[in-house]
Amino acid sequence: MKIGETYKVLIDNFDINGYGVAHIDSKVIFVEGAVEGETVIAKITSVHKRFVFAECIRVLDVSPKRKEPECPYYKYCGGCDMMHVGYETEAEIKTNRVTQTLRGFDYKLNPIIKANNIHGYRNKVMIPFTKDEDDTVLYGFYEKKSHDIISIDKCLISNDVSNQIISFIGKYLNIFHVSIYNEEKHEGLFREVMVRNTALNEYMVVLVTTADYDFSKLVEYLTNEFECIKSIYLNINAVKTNVVLSQEYKLLFGKPQVTESILGLKFNVSPSSFMQVNHDQCEALYSEALRMADLKPDMNVIDAYCGMGSITLNIAKSVKHVYGIEIVPDAIKNANSNKELNGISNATFILGKCEEKIKELVNKERIDLIFFDPPRKGCDIEFLNTVIEMNIPKIVYVSCNIATAARDIKILEVAGYKLETVTPVDLFARTLHVETVCCLSRNNFEK
Ligand SMILES: C[S@@+](CC[C@H](N)C(=O)[O-])C[C@H]1O[C@@H](n2cnc3c(N)ncnc32)[C@H](O)[C@@H]1O
Repeated sequence: MKIGETYKVLIDNFDINGYGVAHIDSKVIFVEGAVEGETVIAKITSVHKRFVFAECIRVLDVSPKRKEPECPYYKYCGGCDMMHVGYETEAEIKTNRVTQTLRGFDYKLNPIIKANNIHGYRNKVMIPFTKDEDDTVLYGFYEKKSHDIISIDKCLISNDVSNQIISFIGKYLNIFHVSIYNEEKHEGLFREVMVRNTALNEYMVVLVTTADYDFSKLVEYLTNEFECIKSIYLNINAVKTNVVLSQEYKLLFGKPQVTESILGLKFNVSPSSFMQVNHDQCEALYSEALRMADLKPDMNVIDAYCGMGSITLNIAKSVKHVYGIEIVPDAIKNANSNKELNGISNATFILGKCEEKIKELVNKERIDLIFFDPPRKGCDIEFLNTVIEMNIPKIVYVSCNIATAARDIKILEVAGYKLETVTPVDLFARTLHVETVCCLSRNNFEK
């Protein structure tokens, strides 16, 4: 088999990345864009020893699971991966992604918690800006497997008012000939826009540039047009990097934070603080994690990787004391002000790396339960070893990357924990990403 060759293949099933799987002789073919049950023409894109990758260039008999993508940019845009199938099939692929990755573990699987809204749910949008050959300002998402920006009008999974704000800013930059950043040459001014919104209808806009600039007119026009904008920042990032936001923020308008409401508590959110991107499913995720935790009033709990304290303060409602640990100083500042805002006194927030700061709690008091919600790379081994050493009877592991969660759970199982229950939660409809709540308990726990 060679790159560029085409084959007629029957797709047996989906793999964990949502690719269609076919077989020719002893080779497995992973066909991007093909759907289970279909016969397709697949064009080979890369060849490996026991498998090849291909793209679906023609469907010969269409599966009832296939769906016309609802977004006109789907074919090119790197944002979504699941728009060529119906939502039921997407949920099956996501469940399969979790169960295949957790192969070898013995646990109870709960049904995936599906989203009620599969469009317009994203409460944080980051959009890079560029210019075309005619010097017209464009904005959009990065193309699949590339760093080229494809121009879009609006993003279907993003909040609609955020789309309108971005479009408004695009028009302003065009009309007033604001210099736009050229990534290749590393010259020009305007790089990206971030818009964040909350369930309380508060919007925060962050304009990312390479240098300071007078945006007072844009701020005036924007806030006249969109009353819901409560905060506008300039973020100055002069470095040639893929990291969009620098540490240098300048408040141009309104309040430094916007306010979110999660499971009845209020949260002030800074531009650099982590917040789940799907509000309704975030509530579903936290509710499931809290249900699995089975909290009791005499418990001492740790919430590791706590962000602005959104799980921590919800835990605090039901336990004796909870400790939140987080590396981002602004998030800890938010967490402490959120604690005050909600009149909570039985939570302590600790700034620093979980792998280092958890050690301060080793001999402090008995810890009955720990929540982890790490970033995609999972937990640090030093952190896991301390959890094991502390002999904490129960763990609720919230993960946005089941591959690294499986790696960490394996380490915990070898050390005497047992994976009991798993619930996938769909926070990112129309994309491949899936969130998972895993509950582990210590086999040999003795009080
Ligand atoms: C997936 S977010 C979860 C945040 C929070 N639990 C929530 O639901 O909003 C992961 C958090 O871990 C933080 N983080 C990353 N590495 C860390 C580390 N080594 N120690 C402590 N916090 C870390 C990030 O800043 C981020 O806030």
